[in-house]
Amino acid sequence: MAALKRHPKKIGVGGAIITPYAKRLVNRVLNSGRISYGPMLKRFEQEFARVCGRKFAISANSGTSALQVAFHALKEKDGWKDGDEVIVPAITFVATSNVVLQNGLKPVFVDVDPYTYHIDPKKIEAAITPRTRAIAPVHLFGMSADMDPITAIARKHKLRVVEDSCEAVGVSYKGRPVGADGDIVCFSTYMAHLITTGVGGLALTNDPDLAVRMKSLVNHGRDSIYVSMDDDKGLKGKARFEVANKRFSFISVGYSYRMTELEGALGIAELKYLKKNIKLRQRYAAYLLKGMKRYEGFLQLPTRPDNREHAYMMFTMVIKDPRLFTRDELVAWLEDWNVETRYMMPLINQPVYVGMFGNLEPKYPITANINHHGFYIGCHPEMDKKHLDYILAVFAAFFKNKGLVAENKK
Ligand SMILES: Cc1ncc(COP(=O)(O)O)c(C=O)c1O
Repeated sequence: MAALKRHPKKIGVGGAIITPYAKRLVNRVLNSGRISYGPMLKRFEQEFARVCGRKFAISANSGTSALQVAFHALKEKDGWKDGDEVIVPAITFVATSNVVLQNGLKPVFVDVDPYTYHIDPKKIEAAITPRTRAIAPVHLFGMSADMDPITAIARKHKLRVVEDSCEAVGVSYKGRPVGADGDIVCFSTYMAHLITTGVGGLALTNDPDLAVRMKSLVNHGRDSIYVSMDDDKGLKGKARFEVANKRFSFISVGYSYRMTELEGALGIAELKYLKKNIKLRQRYAAYLLKGMKRYEGFLQLPTRPDNREHAYMMFTMVIKDPRLFTRDELVAWLEDWNVETRYMMPLINQPVYVGMFGNLEPKYPITANINHHGFYIGCHPEMDKKHLDYILAVFAAFFKNKGLVAENKK
């Protein structure tokens, strides 16, 4: 192996590619002078709903705000009480669980599958109590959770399902789009996500009543779904007055969670590129998987059940035997060589959660293992083959230094 030379720039876990089409759409917004909710966002919502096979999409200024209004709308509609419970995977981004708490509800954690890292459907029923109201499966790292058994459990126990799909869009589960199953599904368009608009999110549903409630909640709790400035277009006389009369009427304690036309424009351009984006990620992941197969005795690499597609929002790894080397050693090595890493969404061991719930890790052994031995690197369109080869060389040097895997002579 030629001497490894440190990559001059950090190879990050993801960013954004602003295409000429995105620039044209953003400029169209700027030239129109209309930057609050208007035609771009309406189009983005409609196109996003189509990709996900849903009837209604409500844009919000983050995935977290989309989740916040989703639980708020359900709590209001179904009359949930403070302290009612929501089942949440023990591995997820803190926001999934935070919004449950912020809605006055209680997250009840369930351990995850050791290979997909999603909530383990086999362990859900044991966590259901008379106060359980919903299950919140999370489609982490670019792939759907196992939805059929989750939906079956929800039906059996009359529970709502709120899917957190902030990390997966445009991929399928058993032939249907990810996020097509629950009462509400929420997406994020934050940096490094599969669709990136800087900040942003969407809540999707097929239920017109929930759609109206969520649309109202992101708009301060206004009284109606008609909340844009052209909502009286084409109306006259009494009908126009009716709309004007509703504009300043508030029916719930809502939020100011609106997206702007600028994010709508970026989102439309990103949706156009989504299929290509995912194909490229899949090709890069296949290349990394092939190059890293020789470390499979030491690292658990991403796995994909046959019934679903994977968008590889991230390329995950879990150290198999920490007596040989620790995650911290490998992560420190990668960071030293300018390969950015992140841990795999540790939640229950976060100081804030330990403060609230105590040390939960002994109850969640799979999660505890991932919390301490899992991490990921990026696998995204801003990378190219040179980056992938460099990453493979950095791993090769690590395993050679450790005396665990000899150099690969091509
Ligand atoms: C699984 C999951 N849920 C929720 C969120 C929150 O999304 P946002 O950062 O847009 O608020 C994220 C994103 O970072 C996420 O990965």
